[in-house]
Amino acid sequence: MHEFILGSDGMRSMMKVVHQVARYDVNVLIIGESGTGKEALAKIIHLNSPRAKNAFVPVNCGILSGLMFEDKLFGHEKGSFTGAIRREKGCFEMADKGTLFLDEVSEIPLENQVDFLRVLEDFRFVRIGGSEVIKVDTRIISATNKDLRKLVDQGAFRQDLFFRLHIVPIYIPPLRERKNAIPRMVEHFLNQLSITYRKPPPRVTPEVIDMFCRYDWPGNVRELKNLLERVFILNDEDAITVEHLPSDFLWHFEEPSALDLAEVRKRAETEAILHVMDRVQGDRKRVAQILNISPRTLRYKLNQYGIKVDRK
Ligand SMILES: Nc1ncnc2c1ncn2[C@@H]1O[C@H](COP(=O)(O)OP(=O)(O)OP(=O)(O)O)[C@@H](O)[C@H]1O
Ligand SMILES: [Mg+2]
Repeated sequence: MHEFILGSDGMRSMMKVVHQVARYDVNVLIIGESGTGKEALAKIIHLNSPRAKNAFVPVNCGILSGLMFEDKLFGHEKGSFTGAIRREKGCFEMADKGTLFLDEVSEIPLENQVDFLRVLEDFRFVRIGGSEVIKVDTRIISATNKDLRKLVDQGAFRQDLFFRLHIVPIYIPPLRERKNAIPRMVEHFLNQLSITYRKPPPRVTPEVIDMFCRYDWPGNVRELKNLLERVFILNDEDAITVEHLPSDFLWHFEEPSALDLAEVRKRAETEAILHVMDRVQGDRKRVAQILNISPRTLRYKLNQYGIKVDRK
């Protein structure tokens, strides 16, 4: 069910690295555009590690700052702030003996980065409002769709934290750079959907596959998966043909309608001439002056474009 489709040599060698790092508690940073499968890969690392039977805890670093961030990661003691009605564990504790997945790690607020790095060094911390030192045994996998090195150069991300997280980087290329995986992915996702929705998987015509391979998928694998789900749900026929694809997808393939430059110029010039004519009550000499053309050129254009004006 949770097969990870490779479909290119690059992806196959990436998977070798994945299986290699899975065995050790080394920090891994997964880099890739949105929807390329970073979280799916992090789970594969976890499930192939000696920690597989324990928790995989994902945390989105992009939505929290300051105290909220600390609370989410380290937890709090009862009464440590308004609303803290009981002791609450943070993600580090929940991921004890398991794996903590730091999603969108580039977004950890600068103010939190020092403390965070310190915890990554020795896995000891105290809950907010607490005094007991907690020690956890956690494996760290992080993910980013930003260029972390560039953020370091810009001063938006601490270099020491970057080095700590970046021990083994794994890059997942965007789907447009591994399009030969698309046919297998289509088949895989339709089989998955067929199980989820208890409905036989449809065939897909070669024209549809061909369109899928021509499209660039800015939302990567997630975009492909979502499109298939939509088409799968909305049609009960036994084949998916081009007619079944939603119009907002087909739109990417439409030829732009003919745009004749001479026609564009004629329309724009006619409009400008009529506008100025109107402003100066048809005084042709002034119109030519304002438009920065000779009276002769103006006469020519009036004839050419068939503009009728009352002579004044
Ligand atoms: N190679 C693949 N084979 C099968 N399924 C995949 C593959 N890559 C991604 N998926 C599926 O596509 C969806 C999106 O993947 P995932 O959530 O891991 O992407 P992400 O890189 O974490 O995205 P984001 O940056 O937006 O969080 C998931 O449902 C995942 O299971
Ligand atoms: Mg993700």
